[in-house]
Amino acid sequence: MISLTPSFFKTALLTTALMSAGLVYAANPEGIVVYNAQHEGLTKAWVEGFTQETGIPVTLRNGDDTEMGNQIVQEGDKSPADVFLTENSPAMVLVDNAGLLAPVAPTTLEQVGAPYRPAHGRWVGIAARSTVFVYNPSKLTEADLPKSLLDLAGPSWKGRWGASPAGADFQAIVSAVLELKGEAATLEWLKGMKANFTAYRGNSSVLKAVNAGQIDSGVIYHYYAYVDQAKTGENSKNTKLYYFKHKDPGAFVSISGGGVLKSSKHQEDAQAFLKWITGKEGQEVLEKGKSFEYAVGVNAQSNPKLVPLKELDAPVIDASKLNSKKAVELMTQAGLL
Ligand SMILES: [Fe+2]
Repeated sequence: MISLTPSFFKTALLTTALMSAGLVYAANPEGIVVYNAQHEGLTKAWVEGFTQETGIPVTLRNGDDTEMGNQIVQEGDKSPADVFLTENSPAMVLVDNAGLLAPVAPTTLEQVGAPYRPAHGRWVGIAARSTVFVYNPSKLTEADLPKSLLDLAGPSWKGRWGASPAGADFQAIVSAVLELKGEAATLEWLKGMKANFTAYRGNSSVLKAVNAGQIDSGVIYHYYAYVDQAKTGENSKNTKLYYFKHKDPGAFVSISGGGVLKSSKHQEDAQAFLKWITGKEGQEVLEKGKSFEYAVGVNAQSNPKLVPLKELDAPVIDASKLNSKKAVELMTQAGLL
């Protein structure tokens, strides 16, 4: 039984007053749950801007691509997630292949450039990142640089480069090699990699090792170096970045994805979130914030410090075809995992 005490009336009055002032979101007071595999700092900035503008609260559950993707598939239509954000495309493809995504609103799709979203429209690009070759110029000269990512499997690169094979970032690069070169060539390349490379845990550790001269070079994503430069530069001051370009597999640009779960009971709010992060303000977070990832909005600008996305001459890849399962299988077969 509800007792109608003075404090009950006070609360009711206050809620009504706040609602009419637009400070309490009436339709869905508990807000939305976002399973977030993107870098936490970036997503937090998005959430703050979105909630400030719309009043819709967002609860974040953070993890990595593989972990969160598998969790959603396991939870199926009972997942508490309303939205899924990934660092790379393969985890989103995994969830999509399980039939768990609702179509993204056309007004959101329109905001994102066609190369940065799959044509089927069940998820959309929210940011992008480029593969890059990082090297220590005291160890390698420009003349030594590889023409292609695939060259790194050759005998002259033995003991001279590093990567983080257990991470979803590098596994996305392998899935791109697989999509471009096929299974046999990819396995061959991975075997050469196994013979030549040194494994690190995380792209930051690769960058650090190159900077310290422990290893000549590494394959990472571009923003790790830019983020470090924007801080103290202590883990990148002895490094240079080299972009493969020429549509090489090493010029792969990985798309971070956003999708709304079909099972979400807050479809409207979940769609509003995707619309906001791919819209003007959301993309400005990429331009002006500290993530150094690329913006993918049609009229959006990326951080001016970055090499423009168009100059990277990335290979054309249908992100909805990236197959992380097969990539992981081949990496296991080659002894990398
Ligand atoms: Fe990353």
